[in-house]
Amino acid sequence: MRIFVTGATGFIGSTIVPELLKAGHRVLGLTRSEAGAQSFIAAGAEVHRGTLEDPESLRSGAAQSDGVIHCAFDHDFSNFVANCEKDRRAIEALGAAFAGSDRPLVITSGTGMGNTVPGQPAIEDNLPDPNHPHPRAASEQATATVLQSGVNVSVVRLPQVHNTVKQGFVTHVVALAREKGISAYVGDGFNRWPAAHVLDTARLYRLALEKREAGSIYNAVAEEGIRMRDIAEVIGRGLKVPAVALSLEEAAGHFGWIAAFVSADLPASSALTQKRLGWHPTGPGMIADLEQMRYATP
Ligand SMILES: NC(=O)c1ccc[n+]([C@@H]2O[C@H](COP(=O)([O-])OP(=O)(O)OC[C@H]3O[C@@H](n4cnc5c(N)ncnc54)[C@H](OP(=O)(O)O)[C@@H]3O)[C@@H](O)[C@H]2O)c1
Repeated sequence: MRIFVTGATGFIGSTIVPELLKAGHRVLGLTRSEAGAQSFIAAGAEVHRGTLEDPESLRSGAAQSDGVIHCAFDHDFSNFVANCEKDRRAIEALGAAFAGSDRPLVITSGTGMGNTVPGQPAIEDNLPDPNHPHPRAASEQATATVLQSGVNVSVVRLPQVHNTVKQGFVTHVVALAREKGISAYVGDGFNRWPAAHVLDTARLYRLALEKREAGSIYNAVAEEGIRMRDIAEVIGRGLKVPAVALSLEEAAGHFGWIAAFVSADLPASSALTQKRLGWHPTGPGMIADLEQMRYATP
């Protein structure tokens, strides 16, 4: 199949591209830069110029393709609500291109959307409340709209996706520990974050696309929940700074906009995903990647 990949220059998208090529697919990568175009050509992919702000460019990329994996997202967190709405419009534009066909569209969300019962792992079949307060719920709301219009759309919910260079929000936590000279966690630090290695994640996107099961939701989870205290301690060892417990009030000052997330308990299961896709993550785990990271060079 010829697959249109948005976000193909990003951390996860750039790992999905070789995964698709290796499996015999062709890739049309979305980029807004010459450097992105050159990287696609070097990888053996084709180039599609466009942006999230230009729905027509998304529609035309999809229209030339047999399937879409949507990983682009504007991570300017100072404009988070607007960027989530931009994602809603992007998903609707991609869906519009596939209306009336069976071509698969795979979109990206977060495992937190399935955390509906405190303390229980998020599962794939948990749907977010229609009035979910998190702005990123827009991505799954758009998916539901597109599904209702007859598009073969499925969702990959991501945990903290890692290798030895990047680890999702943990990368922000590392930067704060470096800047402030302490590696902090909140309370007893027993709250948990799920995780998966980026190579396992890329394989899951490919399997989800190939399965083309409309309305499916997959959790790309290899580790159900890693305690924040363990994460803070491995970062502390790497940076040679102390791991320190903070109260909720102190955490707001230390972590800023990410504080609520750092104190949240967000375990997630992938039992259904593993069964439905035959996906079996092989790691390495996030603590191992954080142990191997080069902390000397920010
Ligand atoms: N990494 C994680 O642990 C994690 C966890 C949960 C959810 N997610 C979600 O997974 C997806 C991929 O994340 P990632 O970590 O790979 O992100 P990333 O490394 O920041 O890459 C983002 C991608 O989106 C593209 N992009 C950004 N703004 C754009 C715009 N206005 N128009 C067109 N393209 C634009 C970027 O292109 P440029 O190269 O041109 O900037 C890049 O290819 C996102 O939806 C993200 O929110 C990631």
